[in-house]
Amino acid sequence: MSSEIIEVEASAAASGNAATARFRESGKTTAVETSTERVSLLANEVLSAVYDTVRRHEVTYAEFNALKAWLIQVGEDGEWPLFLDVWVEHVIEEVATGNREGSKGTIEGPYFVPDAPTLATPGTLPMRDDEPGTPLLLRGSVTGTDGTPLAGAHVEIWHADDDGLYSQFAPGLPEWNLRGIIVADEHGHYEINTIQPAPYQIPTGGSCGNLITAAGWHAWRPAHLHLKISAPGRQLLTAQLYFEGDSHLSNDVASAVKPELVLKPLPTADGTGRHVTYNFVLDPA
Ligand SMILES: [Fe+2]
Repeated sequence: MSSEIIEVEASAAASGNAATARFRESGKTTAVETSTERVSLLANEVLSAVYDTVRRHEVTYAEFNALKAWLIQVGEDGEWPLFLDVWVEHVIEEVATGNREGSKGTIEGPYFVPDAPTLATPGTLPMRDDEPGTPLLLRGSVTGTDGTPLAGAHVEIWHADDDGLYSQFAPGLPEWNLRGIIVADEHGHYEINTIQPAPYQIPTGGSCGNLITAAGWHAWRPAHLHLKISAPGRQLLTAQLYFEGDSHLSNDVASAVKPELVLKPLPTADGTGRHVTYNFVLDPA
């Protein structure tokens, strides 16, 4: 095995673990106001689903102990955010945004970092001088569901590089590589120059990878851009945009693909890159 492969594998494992520290720093760990009745209801229903599974499939003591050992290891690996964001968040997002009229969104995932550099439009994301990958121009408008252009809307974008790695989660990348907040102009237009990200596997070196291997699943996500679109008086839209033709669109390990989120980029006139237009519509707050 070459040293390059060893380094990429180490980086992916670190990405899973780093998400736990990030989550603790995020402020999202604050206790939520939930009644004892609701806690009891939710806990009982989850446990009932577990009992049903045990009875239906006659789960053995050996399998029960394997589960115990695995759950302990998920915590020790720092992979609870990874596990929950990959296998549970898509349903939470579906319920949370089910009544929206504006653009579809999808899961945030574990690799968002707040306070990225702010750029005027047209903007180029921070990247290395020799950043590998096909140049990509993403542009469009941000409007409300009533059609109002949202001047000054924030289009925040973060994505993996051409090796499928995220800055601040994989070592060796500049702090804000391929992360930035583009401020839309007075007409609500935005324009972002970046590179097309690569598909990547979620970290396979820890407990989540062990589950994938044991179950005979795969770890791939289709290539995607992560976005958060925000404007005063509008609901925050958290989204991902995918690319037509990606072989993992129909079998995303995180179940986060929706047909409305698939881009169809065209080659640029000079043939060196690709460009695509995507318009965001935000619901009222
Ligand atoms: Fe991602």
